[in-house]
Amino acid sequence: MHEQLRQQYLQAMGIQLWEPKIKPVLDEAPAVDAEPVPVIADTEQAVAPVVDSSAQALPDWPLLQQNVESCTACDLHENRIHTVFGTGNRSAKIMFIGEAPGADEDRQGEPFVGRAGQLLNEMLFAIGFSREQVYIANILKCRPPGNRDPRVDEINTCKTFLQQQIQLIQPELIVALGRIAAHHLLKTDTSLAKLRGQLHSSPGIDVPVMVTYHPAYLLRSPQQKRKAWQDLVMLQQQLSTEQPA
Ligand code: URA
Repeated sequence: MHEQLRQQYLQAMGIQLWEPKIKPVLDEAPAVDAEPVPVIADTEQAVAPVVDSSAQALPDWPLLQQNVESCTACDLHENRIHTVFGTGNRSAKIMFIGEAPGADEDRQGEPFVGRAGQLLNEMLFAIGFSREQVYIANILKCRPPGNRDPRVDEINTCKTFLQQQIQLIQPELIVALGRIAAHHLLKTDTSLAKLRGQLHSSPGIDVPVMVTYHPAYLLRSPQQKRKAWQDLVMLQQQLSTEQPA
């Protein structure tokens, strides 16, 4: 990627580069341990794992998409314009998981297409990825009215779809975007601030999970973008330090 463009995107994210002259931009980011990050096993498991062995037989992509589109298992189907399945590379190394579609996503049937999505694109670009190279999905496939938080019963009703997406993609790393995704995936209510900066293992998910701020939160609290940038650097280092099996 052209260095100047990357810097433009970092600036668009609101991250000021203090010494951009000599070293690559990534070296200018706040120090993050270059060693592979240890995976923390999360112990608070109040509810069933996100991926459990009792899950139904794994459908293929067309059937899974059809199952989502025709789903009427909770009330959210009543007011939806579109279901929001997921988008990106179905063989992606990284899977980003957000909360639920908003109004823009409901209209377009694609996750993260509104302002938060623009910022997510910029965050991806800043670490050398395009939206098409990763996979992006949500915990819920339908929009909660008024953009309220997803309810536990809705999350539980919808969770098989996400389980199946994870099983089909088999990513190397999952990035939980924001509190709702992190709490659901890790079965914890620990604060996001404490969950950041580590890789977590979660029962039933064979993939390490890292946590960062939701782009919508970063739009409201731009002072946290620097921490989000640290998370992105950790993500990038994690991918680059992975050993072949
Ligand atoms: N916020 C989310 O969590 N997901 C989207 O798709 C859009 C906004």
